[in-house]
Amino acid sequence: MLDQLAALERELIAKAAAAQTEAELESLRTDFLGRKGGRLSQVMSGVGKLAKEERADFGRHANETKERIEAEFARAEQRIHRALLTDELARTYDVTFPGSRPRLGSLHVLRRTLNDVASFFRSRGFAIVMGPEVETEFYNFEAMNIPADHPARDAMDTFYLPTGSLLRTHTSPMQVRTMLAHTPPIAIIVPGKTYRRDALDARHAFMFHQFEGLQVDRGITFGHLKGLVSDLCRYLYGKTRRTRFRPSYFQFTEPSAEVDVSCPVCDGSGCRTCGGAGWLEMGGSGMVHPQVLRTAGYDPEVYSGWAFGLGIERIAMVRHGIDDIRLFTENDLSFLEQFA
Ligand code: PHE
Repeated sequence: MLDQLAALERELIAKAAAAQTEAELESLRTDFLGRKGGRLSQVMSGVGKLAKEERADFGRHANETKERIEAEFARAEQRIHRALLTDELARTYDVTFPGSRPRLGSLHVLRRTLNDVASFFRSRGFAIVMGPEVETEFYNFEAMNIPADHPARDAMDTFYLPTGSLLRTHTSPMQVRTMLAHTPPIAIIVPGKTYRRDALDARHAFMFHQFEGLQVDRGITFGHLKGLVSDLCRYLYGKTRRTRFRPSYFQFTEPSAEVDVSCPVCDGSGCRTCGGAGWLEMGGSGMVHPQVLRTAGYDPEVYSGWAFGLGIERIAMVRHGIDDIRLFTENDLSFLEQFA
């Protein structure tokens, strides 16, 4: 039986040395060392036939053989791994072969529109600041000269939070926040999300984007506002666009004006895009109300300012001929990729 063991060991060493793949090695392992029906255990099962005094000696031999076989497997395994690695390293690659290109995302059309607006104002020395979307009644309404019982609060259809705070209905609360935190001269724009409880349709969304403009200093006039907004419209829509200031009313500006731009589709003669009016509404504007200045601690006899609030969706829709505001948030790639 000791001969059998020795023969087994020789055979295994030869075969393990010849093995080329991990799979071959694995099947050798089951063949020789498998618990059930493995060849080593077969030889060892003969131990019962030996005389008592021979058993211990055989057992020791068998264990030693098993250890040597296992060491042999480990060596063979290492050799195969090393060969695989060398192979891998030696393989030549065609570096000119085109790879698979990962699909890249791109900026959303609203982000691009905002970036354009921001670069216009940056070039004119305006700072771009952000404000909280969750606001207090004070900044959203009271500071804007809209007292608690004022019907204008209904018009804004506000989302209130259980805490008593609200989702800002416009970017205007940043007017007083900024004036309280800084001293004049102030020249900022505030882009961001605004919320109103509007039913969703082609022209209304419960979340949309505005950017507030605010300039406060000594001697600021309506002329500054008109000039800047007219420039902005030419920058956004082309040199031939005309801008119109239509008298309007806001609690926080006096006088107030709605900003219209001549329809870029029909150039003012009236079409479907402008609903036959020849003009498109861009948003509200006006001279900062003395009461708002006072709330911010500014003397309205010394300082004056203008403010506007324009819609970013509106600008993107007019520039790109988009006729439904819902498209911006539906994540339809065939829509979004047109602006990539
Ligand atoms: N906050 C107003 C709105 O959302 C727009 C506006 C801003 C009007 C600043 C005047 C001055 O409708």
